[in-house]
Amino acid sequence: MTDTLFHAHPVRGPMNAAFFWAAGGMFDRLLRSHKRRVYADLPDTVVELGAGVGANLRYLSPGSTLIAVEPNPAMHGRLRRAARRSGVHLDLRPVSAERTHLPDASVDVVLSSLVLCSVGDPGQVLREVRRVLRPGGRFVFVEHVAAPAGTPLRRLQRWVRRPWAWCFEGCSCERDLASVVGDAGFDRVDVESYRLRSPFLPFNTQIAGVATR
Ligand SMILES: C[S@@+](CC[C@H](N)C(=O)[O-])C[C@H]1O[C@@H](n2cnc3c(N)ncnc32)[C@H](O)[C@@H]1O
Repeated sequence: MTDTLFHAHPVRGPMNAAFFWAAGGMFDRLLRSHKRRVYADLPDTVVELGAGVGANLRYLSPGSTLIAVEPNPAMHGRLRRAARRSGVHLDLRPVSAERTHLPDASVDVVLSSLVLCSVGDPGQVLREVRRVLRPGGRFVFVEHVAAPAGTPLRRLQRWVRRPWAWCFEGCSCERDLASVVGDAGFDRVDVESYRLRSPFLPFNTQIAGVATR
């Protein structure tokens, strides 16, 4: 399977893999309560978009299978080792979330965290998620989003957008992802908005939710 949508960077890819590996514990402490809520009752096989270095493996039961849609080769070594340590069977797909090559209506749960900020086309990713989910299947997500218009935090997100995107391989802090999920044609969407207290100010406006097909 080849992927022409994601362009791996030889320096920033490994830098981001190392950063998310080192900061994984801190991000998990910040996000744990939201993840526990939306990632409850996961089935034995889950598809994860942008699985990175394995931040969400701890929410899967040992013996379960993770179909990891992760186009960035810099993440793969750490992700494989983390899956082995967690006792999770890893089925790694080096493709983009916009085009997963998974069959129609074949999946019970698709999961993501901090990924829709980075994909090239979030609307297309949501169409793809809806396509691969079975009727009644769930998309469960934790994402960072744009602060409300006109607020100081929104202005900060605008000021830092270029260096932020450069450091974090295309990540945007300016996306209204609740609307993207809400407009994707799911039968039901439950979204909670909240604010983190972290030193990464532009990242602190967040949503977590469940969209049911
Ligand atoms: C900010 S990291 C988050 C990683 C992990 N989900 C976490 O919570 O730590 C964003 C991830 O999305 C991946 N990514 C970027 N563009 C993507 C795309 N089009 N499809 C799937 N994954 C993508 C990156 O390679 C990276 O692993």
